[in-house]
Amino acid sequence: MRTQVAIIGAGPAGLLLSHLLAQGGVESVVLETRSEAYVAARIRAGILEHSSVELLEAVGLGARIRTEGDHHRGIYLQWPGERHHLDFVDLAGRSVWVYGQTEVQKDLIAARAADDQEIHYEVSDVALHEVESDRPYVTFTDKSGSTQRLDCDVIAGCDGSFGPSRHAVPAAKTFERVYPYSWFGILADVAPSTDELIYAWHPNGFALHSMRSATVSRLYLQVPNGTDPESWSDDRIWEELATRLGHGQNGWKLTPGPITDKSVLPMRSYVQTPMRHGNLFLAGDAAHIVPPTGAKGLNLAIADVALLSKALIAQLREKNPALAERYSDDAQRRVWRCTHFSWWMTTMLHTSGDPFDAELQLSQLRWVATSRAGATGLAENYAGLPIGY
Ligand code: FAD
Ligand code: DHB
Repeated sequence: MRTQVAIIGAGPAGLLLSHLLAQGGVESVVLETRSEAYVAARIRAGILEHSSVELLEAVGLGARIRTEGDHHRGIYLQWPGERHHLDFVDLAGRSVWVYGQTEVQKDLIAARAADDQEIHYEVSDVALHEVESDRPYVTFTDKSGSTQRLDCDVIAGCDGSFGPSRHAVPAAKTFERVYPYSWFGILADVAPSTDELIYAWHPNGFALHSMRSATVSRLYLQVPNGTDPESWSDDRIWEELATRLGHGQNGWKLTPGPITDKSVLPMRSYVQTPMRHGNLFLAGDAAHIVPPTGAKGLNLAIADVALLSKALIAQLREKNPALAERYSDDAQRRVWRCTHFSWWMTTMLHTSGDPFDAELQLSQLRWVATSRAGATGLAENYAGLPIGY
C-alpha cells in the first residue's frame, strides 16, 4: 500500500487530520487498533472551545453542534456558601459548547465515510520504520491477520498516550507531573440540575457538574488514586455529589437519577518535545496529556491538527517545508499555555488535606470570581485562544 500521509490512530486528532488533508488535496490512510464501534462509543471529553467550533464549522463538521450541542456563555465557580457565574462572552468575547467527544467522533466517522476514506480498524503490531528518511513506512497486521506494509511520505502519530509513535522520537525531552488524586466520572439519565457547568471546591474534594444533553448529566468527584468505581454505591455517589455541589445552598437542588456509566480517570500533565522527528509528526495525546480540569485535551488535539494539516499540505503539495519546520515550536506555544491553565485549574480546585493550601485556594477562588481581571484570565483561557496562538 502507498499513500502520502500514514495516520496512526482514528481518535479525534487522526480523523480530523485526515479530513483536513483531504480538503487540501492530500491523501491519507488511517490505522486504528480498536473497532469503529468502540472508538465511536468511548466516553471522554465534553466541552468544545470557541476556536474548535469555528474550525469544525469551517470544514463542514458543524451542523450537529448547532442542532444538538448546547451553547454556554460561561461556568459557575463555587465553594461552600458561595456560587459565582463567570460570563465568558462578557469577559472575553468568546464562549464554549457542550458537545460530547463521542458526537465529534461520530461526525468525523460519517464525514470520512462519505469521502471513501481508507481506514483500517482492528489492526495490530503497528510499527514505524525509517522515519528519518524520505521513504518512511508503517507495518501492521490487518483485521484478517495478514501482514501489511504502508509506504508514505510522512507519518502522523495521532495514537494517543499509549501508542507507539511518541517512542519513535529519539532523545525527546519529556516533562511530567502526576497528581495525587483521580476523577470518578458518572453518566446519569437525569436532566442536569444546572444550566451551565459548576466547578466546586469543597473540603471533601473537588466536584464538577457537567452534562451531555437535556436528559443526560455528567458529574465528577475528586477521589484518591486507585479508587475502585464499584466500591461506591449509587446512593453514596449522589450523597457526596450533593454535599460537594451544595444541595440546599440558596434553595439549589441536585436531582439524582439512574447511573449508566462509572469510571475512574487518573490525572497527569505530560509534554513531549519536539513534536517532529524527520518525517514523523506527533499530534494530540501522543505528544501531551493534560489533567481534565480545564477541558483542554480534545481542544488541544484539534488545534494541533489545524496547524499540522496546513504544514503537511504546504510540504507535500507546494514543496514548501517552512510550516513543517516550525510545526513543533508553533504547536508547543499553545500546548504549554493549556498545560499551565489545566495545572492552575487543577491545583486551585482539588483539595490536598493541607490547611495552608486550602486557605490559598479559597483566597484565589474569591479573587478569580470577584475581580474582573481575575475572571477575564480564566475566561480567556477556558473559552480558548485563537488557533495559531
Ligand atoms: P485519542 O482519542 O486517545 O486517540 C488515539 C487513537 O489511537 C485511539 O483511537 C487509539 O485506540 C489509537 N491507537 C492507540 N495505539 C494505537 C496503535 N498502536 N495503532 C493504531 N492506533 C492506535 N479530556 C477532556 O478535556 N475532558 C475529559 O473529561 C476527558 N476525559 C477523558 C477520559 C479518558 C478515559 C481519557 C483517556 C481521556 C480523556 N480526556 C478528556 C482527554 C481527551 O479525550 C483526549 O485529549 C483526546 O481524546 C485526544 O485525542 P487524540 O486523537 O489525540 O487521542
Ligand atoms: C467535562 C469534562 C471536563 O474535563 C471538564 O473540565 C468539563 C466538562 C465533561 O466531560 O463534560
